Amino acid sequence: MSTTVEQLKLGLIQSPEAPEEPKDGAHLADPVKWTLTRFPRLRFMGSKYRLIPWIHETFSELPFETALDAFSGSGVVAYLLKAMGKRVITNDFLKFPAVIAKATVENASTRLPESTLERLLDAPSPPSRFIEETFKGVFFTEDDLRFLDRTWHAINALPDATERHIALAALIRSCVKRQPRGVFTVAGDPSHYKDGRRDLKLSLREHFVEQVRVYNDAVFDNGKQNLALCGDVFDLESVSADLVYLDPPYVPRSDDNCYVKRYHFLEGLVDYWATEPVRYDTRVRKIPKKFTPFSYRRTAEAAFDRLFGMFPGSILVLSYSSNGFPDLERLVDLMKRHRREIVVKRHDHRYHFGTHEKVKRARVEEYLIVGLP
Ligand SMILES: C[S@@+](CC[C@H](N)C(=O)[O-])C[C@H]1O[C@@H](n2cnc3c(N)ncnc32)[C@H](O)[C@@H]1O
Repeated sequence: MSTTVEQLKLGLIQSPEAPEEPKDGAHLADPVKWTLTRFPRLRFMGSKYRLIPWIHETFSELPFETALDAFSGSGVVAYLLKAMGKRVITNDFLKFPAVIAKATVENASTRLPESTLERLLDAPSPPSRFIEETFKGVFFTEDDLRFLDRTWHAINALPDATERHIALAALIRSCVKRQPRGVFTVAGDPSHYKDGRRDLKLSLREHFVEQVRVYNDAVFDNGKQNLALCGDVFDLESVSADLVYLDPPYVPRSDDNCYVKRYHFLEGLVDYWATEPVRYDTRVRKIPKKFTPFSYRRTAEAAFDRLFGMFPGSILVLSYSSNGFPDLERLVDLMKRHRREIVVKRHDHRYHFGTHEKVKRARVEEYLIVGLP
C-alpha cells in the first residue's frame, strides 16, 4: 500500500517529529541546536555534521558578517552560518549539493504546499522511462524507479524554482535513505537487505512524503539575501566575503575519495542525466568522474596555494585532518604566504569510513586552520 498525505496526517505511518514553527530570530538564540535539529542530515562523505558545535565555537570568535562556504557538500556548515545570522554564499562543483543549498540556505520562505505534494504523488505517466530502463536491476525496486520517472517529470513541471528545489532535495534524501549505506557504488535491490531497518523498508514514495515535510521544516529566513552557486572553486574570483570556509576533499591515503563514484545517481537525478552521459560499460551506470586537483598528490599543494591566494581580504577557515596530504605543517606554510597570522585549532574526532563489511574506525585529529588577513 502506498502512503498518502492523508495517512501521514492520520498517523497511520511513522514520521519524524516535526520541529515547532520557527519564530522570527529564534535561530540566533542557539544556532548549533537549530542546525542539529532542523538541518536534514545527509549521509555524505566528509560531512562536518558531527563537528558543528566545535566549528561554531571557532566561527563565533571571528569578526564577520558575510561568509562563503566554497565546498558546501551536504550543506550543513552553510546552514549553521545562516543560523548565525550571516549572509551566506555556498558553492559546490556538483549539482546535487547546490540543489540542497538552494532549498535550505538560499530559500528564505518557500515551502512546498500539501496540495502540490498531492499533485506530485498523483503524477501521470512520464514522457520518458529513462530511470526505469537504465537502473532496473541496479538500484531500488521497479516500483521505486517508476516513481522516480513520474515524480521527476512532475517536479520539473512546477513553475516555482524554489518549490522544485525543495522537491528535488526531498527526492535526493529519499534516495540516500532507501539505498543501502547511502552510496551508489554497489548494485542491489533494497529488499535484499533484510536487516529490518525502517529506511530500507519504506518505499521511495513513502520516504518522499516524509522528506518534503523535513525540508519544509528546515526553511527559515535569517533576514539576509543568501545565495547558492554551482561551479568550480577557481571560478569564484569575483565572490567576496568577510570569511571563506574551505573544506575541500583530501588526498586519500588508501581507496579513493571520488564523490561522483559514490553519488553519481544523485548527480544524474537532479537534471535527469541531461548533462552527464551514462557510462553503460559500468555495472552501476556511473557518469564520468569530475577532476579536482585537491584529490591528487601531484596537484594538491599547488591547488591549496592558489586557493589561499584567491580571497585576499578574507579570513580563511580551512577544515583539515591529520590523515590528509599535505600535512598540517606544510599547509600552514602555504597559508602563511597569503595571510598575516595563522591560528590552528585541534579537535579529536572518531571517523567511520570504508565498506560495510569492514567499517574501519580511526582516530584522527581534526584541524581548523584560521588565516587572518
Ligand atoms: C569534504 S566535502 C565538503 C563537506 C561539507 N563541508 C559538509 O559538511 O558536508 C568536499 C566537497 O567539495 C566539492 N568539490 C571538490 N572539488 C571541488 C572544486 N574544485 N570546486 C568546487 N567544489 C569542489 C565536492 O563535490 C564535495 O562536495
